[in-house]
Amino acid sequence: MKRSIPELQALAQPLVMVTAYDYPGGRHAEAAGVDVILVGDSLGNVVLGYDSTAPVTLGDMIHHARAVRRGAPDTFMVVDLPFGTYHTGVQDAMRNAVRVIQDTGADAIKMEGATPEILEVVQTLTRNGIPVMGHVGLMPQTATAQGGLRVQGKDDASARLTLEGALALEAMGAFSVVLEAIPARLARLISERLAMPTIGIGAGLHCDGQVLVTHDLLGIYEGEEKKIAKRYAELGRAAREAIATYAAEVRGRQFPTKENAFVMKDDVLDKLY
Ligand code: KIV
Ligand code: NA
Repeated sequence: MKRSIPELQALAQPLVMVTAYDYPGGRHAEAAGVDVILVGDSLGNVVLGYDSTAPVTLGDMIHHARAVRRGAPDTFMVVDLPFGTYHTGVQDAMRNAVRVIQDTGADAIKMEGATPEILEVVQTLTRNGIPVMGHVGLMPQTATAQGGLRVQGKDDASARLTLEGALALEAMGAFSVVLEAIPARLARLISERLAMPTIGIGAGLHCDGQVLVTHDLLGIYEGEEKKIAKRYAELGRAAREAIATYAAEVRGRQFPTKENAFVMKDDVLDKLY
């Protein structure tokens, strides 16, 4: 059954979130019993083959989130607002968030950052009944401005910025926040200070929940090994081996077999000769 926000906020065990991008991904996540599915804009990297999340459009997110929802009708689903869709003013952000909710059946949206501009957007959306998950620490959409894809919150200024950002997101009405690539002790401090659940990725064990990119945990997306992810399967390798076996069997005339073929009556065939 789909969990409500109060239920997600009161889980006795760590909250489990994974990403999904399509119908089978949604089905697998729901069957595995995760608490939250995130249709992440990591879509751009692990599914669409871009080298950042910046090119991902609202249309891409909606297209994929609709497929996820068909596969996972009974799981709380959060959809990332992609780069540029909440940065041009509160009205635009509101309109785009409403579109995502209406077109995909999302239960909430997620956005990166805690600048005054973003906080205003968070406040407006939550006041208008759109649940918002925040995201601080490493923020891939604007990583270039953060000095690349690197750990945040290690020095005094950056740690303070991350802590204050998370607190401000809660004050503006966010119901949860992702902490990405920050030191474990900082994540622990933030988790203690906040009432809302923190969901960590590369943020240590003391967050209220964890999230992984499914294509990382399944070994489907095989970029460089990521310190923040753990591979629980090698589906990429399994896929290559299966396709190579198929190719060899076709070339060796071992596939298809009788079991894969259809039969017809001899007399029908005779008439064709
Ligand atoms: O896009 C994504 O997959 C994310 C998670 C890593 C939190 O934002
Ligand atoms: Na994201």
